[in-house]
Amino acid sequence: MPVVKFIEFDGTEHEVDADNGASVMEVAMKYDIPGIDADCGGGAVCGTCHCFVEEAAGPLPDMDPQEEAMLGLRPDRESNSRLSCQLTVSDSIGDLIVRLPEFQM
Ligand code: FES
Repeated sequence: MPVVKFIEFDGTEHEVDADNGASVMEVAMKYDIPGIDADCGGGAVCGTCHCFVEEAAGPLPDMDPQEEAMLGLRPDRESNSRLSCQLTVSDSIGDLIVRLPEFQM
């Protein structure tokens, strides 16, 4: 079972066990991690589940055009930005360290 460490903007860390097949957003919701709003419920149309993947044990899947388009609307986008609703926990990705933005917009 992969472990996801969420780091809030203020540095508060939350390390949780994540189910394979769940999105990183769903893991955050399950454990009430502050900093991810997920207004569209995972449809990749709101961009309020933005996160920064600081470390991953394995390679991340490529972004699809919808994720790329939504992240393109984020002025705080960085090279490691992802929509957490589009990133699925799996043994092939393994453990993750995910930093959260100051606020979702
Ligand atoms: Fe809306 Fe991810 S929850 S884009």
